[in-house]
Formats: sequence, C-alpha cells, structure tokens
Amino acid sequence: MTMRRADTVYLDGRYMRCAEARISPDDRGFLFADGVYEVVRVYGGRLFEIGAHLDRLRRSLREIRIPSAAADGIDGICSGLIERCGLSQADATVYVQITRGAAPRGHAFPADGTPPTVYVSAAAVDEPPDACALGIGAILVPDTRWARCDIKSTALLPNVLARQMAVDRGAREALFIRDGVITEGTASTFCAVSSGSLLTHPLGERILPGITRTVVLRLCRELGIPAVERPVTVDSLSSIEEAMILSTTREIMPVTQIDGAAVGHGLRGPVTRRLQEAFAALTESARRG
Ligand SMILES: Cc1ncc(COP(=O)(O)O)c(C=O)c1O
Repeated sequence: MTMRRADTVYLDGRYMRCAEARISPDDRGFLFADGVYEVVRVYGGRLFEIGAHLDRLRRSLREIRIPSAAADGIDGICSGLIERCGLSQADATVYVQITRGAAPRGHAFPADGTPPTVYVSAAAVDEPPDACALGIGAILVPDTRWARCDIKSTALLPNVLARQMAVDRGAREALFIRDGVITEGTASTFCAVSSGSLLTHPLGERILPGITRTVVLRLCRELGIPAVERPVTVDSLSSIEEAMILSTTREIMPVTQIDGAAVGHGLRGPVTRRLQEAFAALTESARRG
C-alpha cells in the first residue's frame, strides 16, 4: 500500500498548503511528544467509523488532560480537507494530531488558555496489497513501551525502533511481547486463530483499543466465529492455525510467518479470509454511502 500526503493540510483554524504550515519550536508536541493523534480511513471520500475515532480521540485527550473540546468540529474539518484535497471519491487516510500547544519549555502544563495545536492531513491510498492475500512476516520484540498503551499518544519511539527492527529483518510488522504474551503490533492489533476461535488481547492499559478490532469482533459475532479476548502466549505460537494484524490503514492482514517460522500452513487461512471478505463488504457499502 502506498500513501501520498496531499498538498493541502489544516493547521490551527485554516486550510493551507503544507509548505506554508508553520509549527512553533516551542510546541509541546515537538518538545515532549505531549499530544495525541488519530488515523481515520476514508472509503470513496467517506469517513469510516468516524464516531468511534472521535470517541477515542476525546478519551485520549481527557486521559492526558487536554480539554476534549479541542476535538470539537474535527469531523467537519476532516470532511473539508478531503474535499479540498480532491479526495471526495477516493480511498484515503486522514491524520489528526492535537498537542498541548506552544509555550516556553517546562515540564508542567503551560498557562490556562494556551490553545492546543490542531493539525490534520490527508493521504490518498493506492491499493495494490498483494499482502492482503499473501500475508506478511512479523518479528517478536520485547514490549518496552510505557504503561498506558491505551492512550493514542504521539510518543512512539519504541514503536518506531521496533518497526525499523522488523524492516531490517525483512519483516513488515513487529509484535510486542510482555510477560510471555503478544500484546499488539507496533501499529496494529494482533489476533490468532486457535481451534477455530479468534483470540486477541483483552482491552486494558497494555493495548490500544483498536477501532478495527471492534469491527472485527462484531463481524465474528455476525459470522458465528467464536472470539475470545484472551492474550496469545509466545509458547502457543507453534500450535496456532492463523494469525493476522488489524488496523485502520492495513485493515485485516494475514501474518504468515513469525520470526521466520510459518504460522499454520504458512498461507492465509480460512478465518482470515472470511473476515476480510466481510470487512470488504462493509467498506464497499461505506463507499456507496
Ligand atoms: C499500537 C497500535 N495498536 C493498534 C492499532 C490499531 O488501531 P485501529 O484499528 O484503530 O487503527 C494501532 C493503529 O495505529 C496502533 O498504533
């Protein structure tokens, strides 16, 4: 999948060319990664699961004590940006970032009334994903992240380092391990299929509450696929039938190798395929509106 950021962006109340956008070096997002973000998928110019993304954005803001009013009107801003970027019929992603704003450097919060910085960009998505059918390789890495992975914080250094480690080893995702279980990927939810049931880590502070995860659990109910919110242990990986990662950008992606070893038969499995087909039907109807 390739993504090309459109030239027009939104920053602090205005749409502008990206080349004209200016963020202060005092911005707390730059200095402290003191901010949160969302990535929303667009099908045929329409925002997918926007309500769930806005709820999660408001929750992230509340958890880090930025007034959640900063998220007011974001859906309209996203729609306005899609239109201005000429993406009204396109498949795309929209990136939203809100930081605690710009103020002289100091760890404690800046003065009341410091306006949050609100940035939104859009990128067209080109779909060639052979990987959707063929699957990808993943590696296992220690989960060195902080203890609040449920907040969609822009502080992503462990994720960045882990993903690069995957790239260096010819893999497409790194799966975090904590206390002998897979928590999630660097930018994805992890699921396995064992004895025909879908397994995924339960919600809590160790994983991001993925929007795709919620959609997939709903599809499992509709399709009669048993789903259990239980973590997958590293020790059980040799006996699972299928593995997949879920995310807004990668949707449902089979994982056919982990640390070089085949998962199951090393091919996309039937549960993954059924879920992909049901998900494609959902996105197709989102496209039609
Ligand atoms: C750490 C992490 N887990 C899970 C996900 C999947 O979440 P969603 O399905 O909402 O995109 C992401 C998405 O970027 C992520 O960064």
